[in-house]
Amino acid sequence: MTTIDTKNTIDSILHEERSFPPPSEFVKHASINSTQALDALYQSASNNHETFWASLARKEIDWHRDFNNTLDASNAPHYRWFYDGTLNISYNCLDRHLADRADKTAIIFEGERGDVQRLSYQELYHAVCRFANALKIHGIGCGDRVVLYMPMVPEAVIAMQACARIGAIHSVVFGGFSAAALKSRIEDAAAKAVITADGGYRGGKIIALKAACDEAMAEGCASVDTVFVLKRTGADIAMKAGRDVYWHDAIKPASDDCPPEWLNSEHPLFLLYTSGSTGAPKGIQHSSAGYLLGTIVTMKWVFDAQDSDIYWCTADVGWITGHSYVAYGPLALGMTLFMYEGAPTVPDAGRFWKLCQDHNITVFYTAPTAIRALMKAGDNFPDAYDLSSLRLLGSVGEPINPEAWLWYHRVIGKQRCPIVDTWWQTETGAHVIAPIPGVIATKPGSCTRPLPGMDVAVVDEKGNEIKQANQGGYLVIKKPWPFMLRTIWGDDKRYCETYWQRFNNKYYVAGDSARRDEDGYYWIMGRIDDVLNVSGHRLGTMEIESALVANDKVAEAAVVGRPDALTGEAIFAYVVLKGERPAGGIDKALTTELQQWVSKQIGPIAKPKEIRYADNLPKTRSGKIMRRLLRAIASGETITQDTSTLENEAILEQLQGKQ
Ligand code: WTA
Repeated sequence: MTTIDTKNTIDSILHEERSFPPPSEFVKHASINSTQALDALYQSASNNHETFWASLARKEIDWHRDFNNTLDASNAPHYRWFYDGTLNISYNCLDRHLADRADKTAIIFEGERGDVQRLSYQELYHAVCRFANALKIHGIGCGDRVVLYMPMVPEAVIAMQACARIGAIHSVVFGGFSAAALKSRIEDAAAKAVITADGGYRGGKIIALKAACDEAMAEGCASVDTVFVLKRTGADIAMKAGRDVYWHDAIKPASDDCPPEWLNSEHPLFLLYTSGSTGAPKGIQHSSAGYLLGTIVTMKWVFDAQDSDIYWCTADVGWITGHSYVAYGPLALGMTLFMYEGAPTVPDAGRFWKLCQDHNITVFYTAPTAIRALMKAGDNFPDAYDLSSLRLLGSVGEPINPEAWLWYHRVIGKQRCPIVDTWWQTETGAHVIAPIPGVIATKPGSCTRPLPGMDVAVVDEKGNEIKQANQGGYLVIKKPWPFMLRTIWGDDKRYCETYWQRFNNKYYVAGDSARRDEDGYYWIMGRIDDVLNVSGHRLGTMEIESALVANDKVAEAAVVGRPDALTGEAIFAYVVLKGERPAGGIDKALTTELQQWVSKQIGPIAKPKEIRYADNLPKTRSGKIMRRLLRAIASGETITQDTSTLENEAILEQLQGKQ
């Protein structure tokens, strides 16, 4: 059994900032595996930003009509890329592979109950064409919005590709969202159709998607004419005559050939709603050509995509990761994509590792929250499976704390697989800061360096670039990039305000704070609104969390600021222990121990003033910690926030110290 000498290793990492060179076995087969090759890419990007992207666009995309103009910046901060070219994304993901890989497996799917399905590129092509024709039969055309509320099954990807084929704009709503959230998204986009299922399997249960759809549409949603319903579980559901149609009935009259609609480069491919720090979720709008290019180049650079790969990204299609790195990027490259419908812990915490073994997964991409949960379950789960097919591991969504990084590296990757920690956002469309794994040495907790063509900087309050190492500031992107968001659907003013106004339209403001170390490596410190100021010192909540989690006894931690008369803000930590929660959620001796621990890891200034122990942390169904809620609790405010999206509402009492 593999074990980690946690204490010594973490100490050495935090104090020496150890770096891990690319494993030699990996480097041998990597497509970018020399400093010279990487330097040439960086050089070409810095010589001429536009020419760099234009030549990649010509190389990687099959155009219907080539473009003459690369970048139109005349209406900044609204940028257009390759804007007089025409293309079709579904054509680039399917048709262009039929000549040489029609029989290659495009999708391997496994359901939570173990059912397996395989689709070749030829079969996927016909399935997409048929559903695209079904959409057309029901009056859906170019520019119409279509909402998807689907389980993680191949038909979710088929539906997205079908929309792309006819130029309909999809908006995928994560299946874990409530009826109310679905309703507001349908209405904001004025969707003409909804695509859902009679249910999906997750966590041993059936998720009643159709019932939630019916509830969402009971009042309002007047724009919806058709609801397509995929039969997945066979559950008894209500079908509304004249509106609802089963997927299998809808495709009956549809031909399995559907010529692609040739669309302008800037045609919106999709909207994806994401939370901001305030207000209602924003419909992030992405383009066609620029977006596709981003998914392709990052698949190649960061995942070292190869024809022989069996690639698995665990993200649901309801998130941006499930768009760029499930539904589009891998298919655009003609890869074999693995999809899994269910929860990582069904029937037990070995499921992911069993899937890796059974399907010979080579590239595995997941989130730190999943890694930590599986790490907590113990090494005997991964140790029971043969993980030798894996060659590359990825992480996304939040900074990965060094302890989880090391566990991933040793217990899953057996020290043979580079870990690519990828920093990006719904808004950026694809990876922005991430290692090129055959060349760049990694450091646990750092997403390393900006990719070629990504002009990233850390700036101070005034917008001046911070050159000094390890000084935190605003993370910004200085030049437009092809796969950037185009606007917020129906609220362009908010687009300008949220991302551009802070520094007078000069930079894209990511909303994260970061620092750059002596080697030019980026360390994400947290959202700007999660940066604490304690006695005039700037501290990232995530840094403190990472230090807490590095302690042997701690499984998970969330840190927030609480107003403090003396220090401005005080640090308040919620901690989930690996062992039992102390009675009443308080343990003075352990608190002193952890305070000293953090003090040793970062400095006395980072010491939490108070620690409260809970059985778990309040998270949204997508796994993000609800920090605003924790801040309210820490400050003793009454909770006015909607807590209905919590995985476990009962946890509130514990967090409030009432139990
Ligand atoms: C955070 C997910 C540190 C960050 C693709 C960002 C990360 C937000 C990382 C976007 C990472 C994402 N290291 N932080 N590797 N990846 N984040 O829109 O705060 O769901 O701004 O996109 O997640 O979240 P989103």
